[in-house]
Amino acid sequence: MPAHVRDFLLYRHCRDFALLREPPAAKCSRPVFLLLAIKSSPANYGRRQMLRGTWARERQVHGAPLRRLFLVGSDRDPHQARKLNRLLQLEARAHGDILQWNFHDSFFNLTLKQVLFLEWQRTRCPNVSFVLNGDDDVFAHTDNMVTYLQGRDPDRHLFVGHLIQNVGPIRSPGSKYFVPKLVTEDEQYPPYCGGGGFLLSRFTVAALRHAASVLPIFPIDDVFLGMCLRQQGLAPASHNGVRTAGVLAPSPRLTSFDPCFYRGLLLVHRFLPFETLLMWDALSQPEIDCGKQGRVY
Ligand SMILES: *[C@@H]1O[C@H](CO)[C@@H](O)[C@H](O)[C@H]1NC(C)=O
Ligand SMILES: *[C@@H]1O[C@H](CO)[C@@H](O)[C@H](O)[C@H]1NC(C)=O
Repeated sequence: MPAHVRDFLLYRHCRDFALLREPPAAKCSRPVFLLLAIKSSPANYGRRQMLRGTWARERQVHGAPLRRLFLVGSDRDPHQARKLNRLLQLEARAHGDILQWNFHDSFFNLTLKQVLFLEWQRTRCPNVSFVLNGDDDVFAHTDNMVTYLQGRDPDRHLFVGHLIQNVGPIRSPGSKYFVPKLVTEDEQYPPYCGGGGFLLSRFTVAALRHAASVLPIFPIDDVFLGMCLRQQGLAPASHNGVRTAGVLAPSPRLTSFDPCFYRGLLLVHRFLPFETLLMWDALSQPEIDCGKQGRVY
């Protein structure tokens, strides 16, 4: 078995890890409409900084309060971990948005991160209507998300994103997504939403928490949440505005980096920090001209 798979098999029963850092209680002292729970690795300082000033800025959108949290583990290398913990301490002091546990932040530990976040939210930030759960390298149109969510009931099931169906485990040991039969014999995953970013209601957060406490940890986090939904008799749904597999421009006139195109989307995967800044700025211009001549980039 590849080393990370062995590691997973050895430690997958461990779910209790110390909380190293959490945001001040003020973060959740009032009701939060949309909580941005962004998975980040300790070293991704540049991405976090960019998001703080763009789509993840804490603010009110149409009167609805947005709050931001970065979910991080610890670096595997002890020397590096000491440096990065100091960095995270500085960030936590300046921005109050770091939620950190002392497990190794690795791809196969992302499920652990999800499970620990669900638990944390239950006691420390219960008054949340909706959650955006996503990566730190996506572009999320958080204003559009609020508009989309404002007509919905947080106490009903909602789980929307880029829906993935009829796929199963990859059995070639060289792949990042390799899952041996020892982990699951099933050749098909339940429907799930790509982990780059999806929206869920507090009803569904609670349902996932129940399921996660009884299901064995599965190493691929977005698939694991699909398993949790199935266990609860719930299904994920597709939203056309969530593109975690990249985008194709809808017409030859629009480039795939055209704000007129992004204006209608909710979330797109894989943005470089500078692209995030440019796009956020372009979308914030009240008068972007999306007529025939309108090409901003
Ligand atoms: C959440 O906030 C609303 C509005 O202030 C309040 O009515 C409700 O009781 C709160 N719920 C919880 C669980 O704190
Ligand atoms: C997950 O984190 C635990 C605790 O740090 C560690 O022992 C384990 O090796 C990690 N698993 C993977 C697959 O990285």
